[in-house]
Amino acid sequence: MSASLATVSYIGATILFILSLGGLSNQQTALRGNLYGMIGMTLAVLATVFGPQVTLAGIPWIVGAMLIGASIGLYAAKTVQMTQMPELVALMHSMVGLAAMLVGFATYIDPEATKAVSGAAKSIHEMEIYVGILIGAVTFSGSIIAFGKLSGRIGGNPLLLPGRHWMNLLGLLVVIYFGNAFMQEGATMTPLLVMTAIALLFGIHMVMAIGGADMPVVVSMLNSYSGWAAAATGFMLSNDLLIVTGALVGSSGAILSYIMCKAMARSFISVIAGGFGTAAAAPKPAGGGAQPAGEVISVNAAETAELMREAKSMVIVPGYGMAVAQAQHTVYEITKLLRERGVNVRFGIHPVAGRMPGHMNVLLAEAKVPYDIVFEMDELNDDFPKTDLVMVIGANDIVNPGAQDDPTSPIAGMPVLEVWKAKTSIVMKRSMASGYAGVDNPLFYKENNRMLFGDAKKMLDEVLAVLKS
Ligand code: TAP
Repeated sequence: MSASLATVSYIGATILFILSLGGLSNQQTALRGNLYGMIGMTLAVLATVFGPQVTLAGIPWIVGAMLIGASIGLYAAKTVQMTQMPELVALMHSMVGLAAMLVGFATYIDPEATKAVSGAAKSIHEMEIYVGILIGAVTFSGSIIAFGKLSGRIGGNPLLLPGRHWMNLLGLLVVIYFGNAFMQEGATMTPLLVMTAIALLFGIHMVMAIGGADMPVVVSMLNSYSGWAAAATGFMLSNDLLIVTGALVGSSGAILSYIMCKAMARSFISVIAGGFGTAAAAPKPAGGGAQPAGEVISVNAAETAELMREAKSMVIVPGYGMAVAQAQHTVYEITKLLRERGVNVRFGIHPVAGRMPGHMNVLLAEAKVPYDIVFEMDELNDDFPKTDLVMVIGANDIVNPGAQDDPTSPIAGMPVLEVWKAKTSIVMKRSMASGYAGVDNPLFYKENNRMLFGDAKKMLDEVLAVLKS
């Protein structure tokens, strides 16, 4: 393939990636967005493999690597449960970081890569290697820890080392010092290795210091880092498409981080500066914050169905437990039935419900819930006082009134769905256990709240059976 055809293909792929991001911003167009992304990626891979930078001898290596990678990808896509998606995404981010690191070292070692450059271009090239490995290493180790935390292999409690901000600052100064040494001393391996070790430790330290409730911001932040790591790889390999694609992922991840910060009422600047775990974010032991007192009122499936029959307006708030139970299809069956009977049923989605951005929207779309009855938290919060019944299905932190009432709560300040303002609320979960943030929920003890204990799918099946009878 000629260089000009490869360039045209790269431009085509770039346009498709931009269209893909545009499509993914809305549920109705998300499928089309994915399709654009897939076509764009196919075009990009073909243009790279058959482009001028790859020699014939390299093709078997590329094909071999692609076969191994594609098999692992296919296997993962087929076997990974919806609830494991966030961990899989974190693991994939770590791969991007690792790739950036390895490409950095390979570019440094490869004599061909530096032969043609001298003077300012050489300095820029060395800078690309240094920064590329730095971003890659932070992304790699940070994502591995995020994977551990999301999958429960590492505890959710933050590791708050004494003087950790000073340690981070010292690490940054050492990295700058060695960066200077790398550029001045004819680019030796020692500064590169020292910086890599510090960057790896920083990635571990940064994510270890983050408490459970702040993980959504970390997930999107590492998404952004992985984009910048890919862009850095693009600079090292002089591949324009990789630079553009990396920048698209990096900036869209940064925008998502900003949206997540707003949803969690955290400051964007403190996130960018790695200022997690300070004052407001400082977590307490599980069950921290003021302990709610009182008894809970539990109901059974028949009583739940009765409350549904009596309601004129109802809001369903799904959370992580709905994903675990795979209850979305039964939820929709019940919704259809109640809507046919004239009940105004709507869904209220919290921005960090579940374990990844858009988690609930994906599940509801899979169950074919119409988009026009799915609302965001801000669109619904004022409507709760006029709502007869709220069904909280496997959600906990996102409906915790303690976030508003208790300044000592680890989730203090996080906006929540104000379900307790409805006439009646029913929380459906298996036990009195806390949610991801590890805090008790005063909602359970409110006078107008009922608890329906059991697996969400099983209980909803029972409710559906009663409604049909
Ligand atoms: P959680 O607060 O984690 O609560 C989920 C509840 O579901 C649990 O209390 C659990 O109680 C219940 N549950 C689990 N399996 C169930 C089943 N089979 N049937 C019925 N109930 C079940 O979830 P949430 O309200 O969706 O809030 C999300 C939390 O995750 C927030 O703290 C958020 O910060 C965090 N987080 C979010 C993200 C993103 S990006 N969305 C990423 C990382 C972390 P039982 O054990 O008693 O059943």
